[in-house]
Amino acid sequence: MQNSKARIAVFVSGGGTNLQAILDAQFSGIINSGKVCLVISSKEGVYALERAGKAGVPSLVFSKKKLGGQEAFEDAIDNALKEYEIDLIVLAGFLSILSAEFTKKYDHRIINIHPSLIPSFCGEGFYGLRVHEAALSRGVKVTGATVHYVNEIPDGGEIILQKAVKVCDKDTPEKLQLRVMRQAEWIILPRAVEMISRKILNDKNAKDAE
Ligand code: GRF
Repeated sequence: MQNSKARIAVFVSGGGTNLQAILDAQFSGIINSGKVCLVISSKEGVYALERAGKAGVPSLVFSKKKLGGQEAFEDAIDNALKEYEIDLIVLAGFLSILSAEFTKKYDHRIINIHPSLIPSFCGEGFYGLRVHEAALSRGVKVTGATVHYVNEIPDGGEIILQKAVKVCDKDTPEKLQLRVMRQAEWIILPRAVEMISRKILNDKNAKDAE
């Protein structure tokens, strides 16, 4: 039997605007080859969980602290991914670093959105507003966003899509963050999700036909 959609889990830790962009793209047909089947949050009470609920997507919360460390945290995540038969993991504002063992297990099955043009302003410590603060203090005139595969190096995996965004004279980190989200992140993340879902689906169907 042909697999009709790649099954997607979106990992979040905050407001979930990128999760929303994916859900909206699913609704509008920009994402047609994949379906968000699970949302996993590393934090309780974040707005991303409400967004999942409103869209009728099941969600789970795993706290590294409560579970007692990285290994137990990743085991719990791994079990959930198996239970929901997940094909593709999308990190959308997920603030926990995943171990090399975990990323190896899901080689070319995890993608991440980063709010700069990699290799600028990326790697350990570059998350959230810090990325935009660094871009502004370096004085770059162009920044943007990158979707990339996730491997054991933070923000070091193969680049899938990038989009440039202009920096304006009077930008604050907050203003720049919002422009990068609107003009880049919310556009290229759904596009990349569709591209990679289609690829996973084609590979799966070819394998099943062997
Ligand atoms: C985004 O800027 C994303 O690029 C970064 O964290 C932020 C998450 O925002 N990794 P949201 O939770 O999707 O609203």
